[in-house]
Amino acid sequence: MEIVRLTADYELKPFDCGDADLNGFLLNDAKNYAEKKLAFTFILEDEGRIVAYYSLLNDKISKRDTSNAAWRRMKKLFPHQKHFNSYPAIKIGRFAVAKEYEGQGIGRKLMDVIKMRLFAYEVSSAFRFLTVDAYLSAVPFYERNDFKMVLSDDDDEHTRMMYFDIVHL
Ligand SMILES: CC(C)(COP(=O)(O)OP(=O)(O)OC[C@H]1O[C@@H](n2cnc3c(N)ncnc32)[C@H](O)[C@@H]1OP(=O)(O)O)[C@@H](O)C(=O)NCCC(=O)NCCS
Repeated sequence: MEIVRLTADYELKPFDCGDADLNGFLLNDAKNYAEKKLAFTFILEDEGRIVAYYSLLNDKISKRDTSNAAWRRMKKLFPHQKHFNSYPAIKIGRFAVAKEYEGQGIGRKLMDVIKMRLFAYEVSSAFRFLTVDAYLSAVPFYERNDFKMVLSDDDDEHTRMMYFDIVHL
């Protein structure tokens, strides 16, 4: 298996992760997002088949988007002199594994690869957190991958804001 970056000339093949929005993003929007520099998409391929994909974009966790309690927790990660109003992050805008590959540890391995690639060598701009707006059904998956809730009382109907602290690697 290998990870390739989605470019304009990449020949997309069928992909079904069981979620119409995530399927539609890959098949209809991802190239446009890349062209407009809104998110870059990476595809995990196996012998020409699309096993999984993810999209990345820059982000921040900011005081404005959290509760007072959540922000106090976040600030505790930093020394007093580094108590800013926001901290840099990279967002996992989309993440999906094809249905026929689900439950085989591929999501976990791919998440480890994302963390290592970003941490070790692939970005030249600093970031402290990986963030994700996790579908409610996928929250346990992110928890298994050491993501934490930004808000302890997040009551969004569809997603939870979660983060992974990259210094934990
Ligand atoms: C959620 C998703 C990415 C998980 O990928 P996967 O390859 O099936 O997950 P893995 O097999 O690597 O599982 C890793 C761990 O998470 C757990 N897990 C995965 N999905 C889970 C779920 N929906 N509920 C509870 N636990 C889950 C697994 O049990 C496993 O735990 P373990 O390490 O203790 O055995 C995949 O099911 C998917 O793409 N779903 C549809 C799209 C989606 O929801 N994407 C997330 C958008 S925010």
